Amino acid sequence: MSANETAEPTRRDFLYIATGMAGVVAAASVAWPFIDQMRPDASTLALATVDVDVSSVEEGMSITAKWRGKPIFIRNRTAAEIEEAKEVPLTELKDPIARNANIPADAQATDIDRSAGEGKENWIVMVGSCTHLGCVPLGQSGDFGGWFCPCHGSHYDTAGRIRKGPAPENLAVPTFEFISDTTIRIG
Ligand code: FES
Repeated sequence: MSANETAEPTRRDFLYIATGMAGVVAAASVAWPFIDQMRPDASTLALATVDVDVSSVEEGMSITAKWRGKPIFIRNRTAAEIEEAKEVPLTELKDPIARNANIPADAQATDIDRSAGEGKENWIVMVGSCTHLGCVPLGQSGDFGGWFCPCHGSHYDTAGRIRKGPAPENLAVPTFEFISDTTIRIG
C-alpha cells in the first residue's frame, strides 16, 4: 500500500456520506405529509365495522359477510357439530392457539374459545381466508365436516381449527360482538 492509498475515509468520502445523510432526512420529511394523509377519517372508521343480521341463519346454516374486503364466515352450528369439536383433545390439534381476537392471544383452541362464547357457542365467526396461502375455503365440507380449502387440500373442523393439510393455523376469528340477539357487529 503506498502512502497515498489509505483505508481511512478521505475528505471526499466524508462529503459523499454527509450528502447522503441529508438525502435521508429530506426523504423522511417529505414522507410524513403522505403518511399523515393516510390516517382514516371518521367516515372510513365507520366502515371499519359491519353489522350483520343473522336472524334468518337457522341451525346448520351459514352465511358469508364482507368486512374490510374480506369474506367473513358466520355459521350457526348444530349441537352435533359443537359436540364433535368439543370431543377433540387439544393434544391432537395442529394449532393449539385459539386465534380469537376477542380473547387473550395465548388462549387455547377449545371449542368455547373459538366460538362466540358462553350461551352463544353455536355461533362461529371467522375470516374466510385459508391460513396457507389465502384461498377461500368451502363450508360444510372436508374430512372434519367444517371447511375445506381446495387449493392445496387443507381441512378445518367444525370449530375452524386446522386438522389436516398444509395450512399452519386455525382460521382467524375477527373482533366481533353480538349487539342484539340477532345482530353481530364485526370489527
Ligand atoms: S391456500 Fe388453502 S390449502 Fe393452500
